[in-house]
Amino acid sequence: MEKILEGLIQKNRHLIQKGHVANYIPALSKVNPNYIGLAIADVDGHIYCAGDYNIKFSIQSISKIISLMLALIDNGEDYVFSKVGYEPTDEPFNTLYKLDLNSCNPANPMINSGAIITTSLIRGNKDEKFDRIIEFIRLITENPNIGYNEEVYLSEKATGHKNRAIAYLMKAKGYLDGEVEDILDVYFKQCSVEVTAVDVAKIGLFIARRCPLNLDSKINNERLASIVTAIITTCGMYDFSGEYAAKVGIPSKSGVGGGILGTIPNKLGIGVFSPALDRFGNSIAGYGIMKDLARELNLNIF
Ligand code: DON
Repeated sequence: MEKILEGLIQKNRHLIQKGHVANYIPALSKVNPNYIGLAIADVDGHIYCAGDYNIKFSIQSISKIISLMLALIDNGEDYVFSKVGYEPTDEPFNTLYKLDLNSCNPANPMINSGAIITTSLIRGNKDEKFDRIIEFIRLITENPNIGYNEEVYLSEKATGHKNRAIAYLMKAKGYLDGEVEDILDVYFKQCSVEVTAVDVAKIGLFIARRCPLNLDSKINNERLASIVTAIITTCGMYDFSGEYAAKVGIPSKSGVGGGILGTIPNKLGIGVFSPALDRFGNSIAGYGIMKDLARELNLNIF
């Protein structure tokens, strides 16, 4: 298996040249674009890794899965989806203008506006919210050493004007409850959490195994896994989600740190890391690897 994974990395390495690391968050522009890491964690407890699988990177939008899960655990499905939609959008991840139309709350929990809402719905004050996020990530990755990158967090906090605009617009429209700056602070911090491809594969495996934990929750675990899998399938790769579903067929979620999480129900979780991005903000070599992996291991769920 490791040989196959290594081969997929070599085959897709040339794609790095066609992408660019995220530079709208200054700290991310310093990341070495040449990293490629890949990990698969299966339901039998095997973990297969190749390349730069143990390099840490910022989780970025993959954290939107975590805030969606915690919002659902704390509030149940009906309440969360009264605040945010289930629908995909053909707009970029940081789209804002539709929020200004009448009765138009965020389309889904995977775009920034929707994730700011789910973060706001996590129980507790700002420190408690972030503690719950990081503890949940540590729990499901079985990695107690996970922390966040202070430089990335402060860099995004200092330059996240578009997210600030989104959050204040939602506050003005009555979509967002709570202190705007506190919610943004948690959102920026959750995006700066550092993970490896192995950690990401384990989050994917947790969903694939239908969230097997006693979660003291307002939603049952099977339903939680089902919602997350459906939402990332339709919205996880932003305005590329349709083509990605057709060509890859692995429920996936990307982040501008270069990570892609994949989850195949009842089978396995996948973590890919390669920081050069395409124009949608998805890892460019990561996409190539996922496409080949789906073919090679017969993982396309469609
Ligand atoms: O809010 C932002 O713009 C970033 N912290 C996260 C965006 C992101 O990861 C989009 N993913 N591909």
